[in-house]
Amino acid sequence: MKTRFVIAICMVLASLSINASIPAYADRGEEGEEEYMPPANDPLYKEECSSCHFLYLPGFLPARSWQAIVKNNDKHFGENLALDAETASRISSYLTANSAERSGSEWSGKILRSAGSGTPARITEVPWILKEHRKISKETFKRPSIGSFSNCGACHPNGALGDFEKASVPK
Ligand code: HEC
Ligand code: HEC
Repeated sequence: MKTRFVIAICMVLASLSINASIPAYADRGEEGEEEYMPPANDPLYKEECSSCHFLYLPGFLPARSWQAIVKNNDKHFGENLALDAETASRISSYLTANSAERSGSEWSGKILRSAGSGTPARITEVPWILKEHRKISKETFKRPSIGSFSNCGACHPNGALGDFEKASVPK
């Protein structure tokens, strides 16, 4: 009796954890691609790349863009990140393995197609990303509660979890 009860509890817990691993907002598109972006889950990437800004999800840029960003980390938008060779190499490998080419996200496909053969230096320079935000004015991005287009998390409260469908512009 007791054993059966324990087994039943284990089965409930197992089914809960399976459900929890599928994001509630993941929406499978026609080609089986998902309308959500896999979150960034690498501790080293998080440690080195989120102290100044939003932790950009790797699926938002082609691998070649990430490689250039890490390689030029001594001239990073006016900052010198001074990464040692080992750290740079590990971050570059992580971003390459999870880039737009690999994420499985429908948005990544749109990013790759719109970038063509170019190497965008920023997510906010990718033509499809610009198109999606064309209705938002320069003045709106400059609001103190936002600061700049690069501050994804200000308008996408669940962005770090991969949910960019939910968007609201703060006052
Ligand atoms: C010392 C602060 C600092 C650190 C640490 C830092 N960045 Fe940045 N990053 C910046 C600044 C400043 C900008 C420009 C932001 C702006 O224009 O509003 C930027 C912009 C970016 C952008 C472009 C955002 C856009 O507009 O699309 C990417 C991508 C990026 N950083 C990746 C990284 C990666 C990868 C790392 C870790 C290797 C990293 N950053 C670490 C300061 C930093
Ligand atoms: C000023 C607020 C704001 C900022 C900052 C912002 N976004 Fe958005 N974003 C929006 C809004 C609003 C929409 C919906 C636009 C529409 O439907 O007309 C949107 C749409 C999107 C979409 C399309 C979602 C879909 O359902 O197709 C993606 C992807 C996205 N944003 C990513 C980003 C990324 C990545 C960043 C940072 C580099 C960013 N956004 C910065 C407000 C913002």
